Amino acid sequence: MLYLYVDSVRLINFRNYMNLNLELNKKVNIFIGKNAQGKTNLLESIYLCSAGKSFRTNGDKDMINIKKNQCYVGAKVFGNHIDKFIEIKLERNKPKRIKINKLELEKNRDLYSGLNVVVFSPEDLRIIKDGPSERRNFIDREISQIKPVYRYNLNRYNKILFQRNNLLKNMRMNKKNKHLIDIFNMQMVKSGSKVIIDRARFVENLALSSRNIHRDITYGKEELFLKYRTNVVERFDDILYIENIEKNFMEKLEKDINNDILKGTTKIGLHRDDIDIFINNMDSKTFASQGQQRTAVLSMKLAEVDIIKEEKEDFPVLLLDDVLSELDKDRRKYLIHTFRDLQTIITSTDIIDLEEFDSLEKKIFCIENGNVNAN
Ligand SMILES: Nc1ncnc2c1ncn2[C@@H]1O[C@H](COP(=O)(O)OP(=O)(O)OP(=O)(O)O)[C@@H](O)[C@H]1O
Ligand SMILES: [Mg+2]
Repeated sequence: MLYLYVDSVRLINFRNYMNLNLELNKKVNIFIGKNAQGKTNLLESIYLCSAGKSFRTNGDKDMINIKKNQCYVGAKVFGNHIDKFIEIKLERNKPKRIKINKLELEKNRDLYSGLNVVVFSPEDLRIIKDGPSERRNFIDREISQIKPVYRYNLNRYNKILFQRNNLLKNMRMNKKNKHLIDIFNMQMVKSGSKVIIDRARFVENLALSSRNIHRDITYGKEELFLKYRTNVVERFDDILYIENIEKNFMEKLEKDINNDILKGTTKIGLHRDDIDIFINNMDSKTFASQGQQRTAVLSMKLAEVDIIKEEKEDFPVLLLDDVLSELDKDRRKYLIHTFRDLQTIITSTDIIDLEEFDSLEKKIFCIENGNVNAN
C-alpha cells in the first residue's frame, strides 16, 4: 500500500489567494479561519490537483481571481516511491493546462491516476436531501477517480443522448429519420451499458463498506442500506452482465420510441438513475434526522476511503471542510480514529478541541484573507 501525501502547495491568483506557498504536514493539518477567509478555496485547490476540476463549480474560470486573467496551482505529492509535481494553469479564453513532472498532459483525465482525495463538507448533505442528479454526480465523481475511462463513457453517452433528444423533437414533424434513431440507440447502449455496470458495482461496494462503518459509528443502533436503481434493468441479476444490460437497454429503447417522439425526450436510460439511501428501513431523505443524515454521508465518505485503498492500493488524502464541529463527540472520535493513517486537511471556524487528536502528528495554521500563517 502506498502512503501518499501533499507536501506543498503553491497558489497564484487562485480565488482570494494572490500568492501562497504552503508546506503541509504528512499527517494532520488544521486550518482555522473566520467565514470567507479562504478555507474552502484552499481545499478546492488541492482537490483540483487530484480531479483536474473543482468540487463546487463546473466553471473552471470561476477559480481565477476576479481581477486577474490567469491563475496557477502547483502541488508536490510524495509517497513511498512517488514524487509527483502537479501543475495546473487556468487562463480566461484558453483551455486548461495540466503538467505532471513538467510534462504537459494531453487529456485531463490522465490526471486521475495521481493523487486521490476524499472530501467531506456540509454541502454533501445534498447527496441525501436533493434529487437524483446530486446522487448521480456523487457516484460519477468517485467512480471516475477510481476508473478514469468511466468519465469518457459517461460523457459519450450524454453527448449521444443530447443528439437523440434533439432528433426526437424534430421527428414530431418529420418521421423520416428513424434510421438515425437506430444508430443513436446503438451508440447509447454501447457506452451507457458500461456506465451502468460500473455504477452497479461501485454502489454495491459502497453499500457493503458504509453499512459496516455506519453500524460501528452508531454502536449497532442503525442499519444503512444503499441500493442502485436504474430504469434500464429491473432484475438485479441482469445488472451483473454487460450483455444483459445491453439487451434490456436496446429492447426498452425500441419499445418506447413512439412515446419518446411524442414527449420529445428519452425516458429510458442512466440519466434517470438513482440510489436509495435507507436508515433502519426508512427513506433517509424523508425520515432521518439532520444528525442521522450527516452520519449516513460520513459513513459513505469513509467507505470511499476504504474503496480507494482497496482499488487503487493508495491512501487517499482526506479533506474535511468544517465538519468536525457538526458531529457529536463519539462520532468525532470515530472519524479521528479512522484517519490516523491518512494525510488529513481539516478546516474549522473555531479552535477545535485538540485533546481529541492526542498523539497525532499535527500542524495548525490560521487563514486570514487569503494568507496562511503557521501557528
Ligand atoms: N474568483 C475569485 N476571485 C476573488 N475572490 C474570490 C473568488 N472566488 C471566491 N472568492 C472569495 O474568496 C473568499 C473566501 O471563500 P471561501 O469559500 O474559501 O471561504 P471560507 O473561509 O471557506 O468561508 P466559510 O467559513 O464561510 O465557509 C470569499 O470571500 C469569496 O468572495
Ligand atoms: Mg467554506
